Amino acid sequence: MSGPLVLGIESSCDETGVGIVRGTGELLANEVASSVDLHARFGGVVPEVASRAHLEAMVPTLERALAKADVDLTEVDAIAVTAGPGLMGSLVVGLAAAKALAASLHKPLYGLNHLVGHVGVDMIEHGPLPDPVLALLVSGGHSQLLLVRDIASDITEVGTTIDDAAGEAYDKVARLLGLPYPGGPVIDRLAQQGDPAAIAFPRGLTARHDLERHRFDYSFSGLKTAVARYVEQAEVDGRPISVPDVAASFQEAVADVLTAKAIDACRHFGVDHIVLGGGVAANSRLRGLMAERADDAGVVLRRPRPGLCTDNGVMIAVLGAAVVEAGRDPSDPGISADSGMP
Ligand code: KG4
Ligand code: ZN
Repeated sequence: MSGPLVLGIESSCDETGVGIVRGTGELLANEVASSVDLHARFGGVVPEVASRAHLEAMVPTLERALAKADVDLTEVDAIAVTAGPGLMGSLVVGLAAAKALAASLHKPLYGLNHLVGHVGVDMIEHGPLPDPVLALLVSGGHSQLLLVRDIASDITEVGTTIDDAAGEAYDKVARLLGLPYPGGPVIDRLAQQGDPAAIAFPRGLTARHDLERHRFDYSFSGLKTAVARYVEQAEVDGRPISVPDVAASFQEAVADVLTAKAIDACRHFGVDHIVLGGGVAANSRLRGLMAERADDAGVVLRRPRPGLCTDNGVMIAVLGAAVVEAGRDPSDPGISADSGMP
């Protein structure tokens, strides 16, 4: 294998990730420290707790990654780091670490977009992305359809959620079912024992593509409200609810909408490859239904393994390798974090 040796640092939310790759195709280390347990009792990420956890975990995680990859810091060709979007107090910890490394090692620094990292990470398992490819990016903060021509330079948003992100819907529904944060993995597990056809939850905006504007937007707040109403009504009626049935029916609605729109967008744009990315792309039903529907539509599906869908440093390292290989200029050493980066 060849290509630049890139060290990637991710700290946009509650995972401290350090990844080391050789080019976009060889994974040498993927170390992640999570502060998720510290946030669980609050029902969501507490920004100050997350920043402090990054500060404590950063150097140990870096040292573990270097040991795992069996490389010395001086061998690294470039430092890549998440510059946004994310929690400001979390981003600055990773950026400060990356800047210190780049400055002291005299290596180029690349401040990168976390969301693009989610899309690009698949390259480490399945090779360079075809042109074009439609990316379904579903995380805690975003749900987007992206038309990707070139991961380093040419990405167009063709759909986004007009309200809640898919992961946010998972986390909110989990909370109203009395389940811990983060809701996605818990609901995914419980849904295995439930009936996905038990409750007919709404599919927001399914039939309403704005074809004239070439838009394929999502909406998940109506679904979340429908689950809340269902639970409230059961309480009023004094009727017990089956949490697995609610979980499975909710999960089916999310997977149905996400996959239907992705396939419709492929048809509309004449694209025959889809790549999944983001924490919700770890969801078993989304992965399964997307595979079925892609197959039926003659679309090739690329799915990174679940451990690479949730936040990690490899996604930033791989994107770093791609931008280095594309010849992009390094970031300014004074680069700042951009919590609202588009
Ligand atoms: O990409 P990610 O790790 O962080 C962000 O960039 O937001 O995504 C986190 C989100 C959370 O909302 C979490 O509940 C969801 O991904 N998630 C899942 C699963 N694993 C994580 N959602 C559904 N099913 C899963 N298996
Ligand atoms: Zn993420």
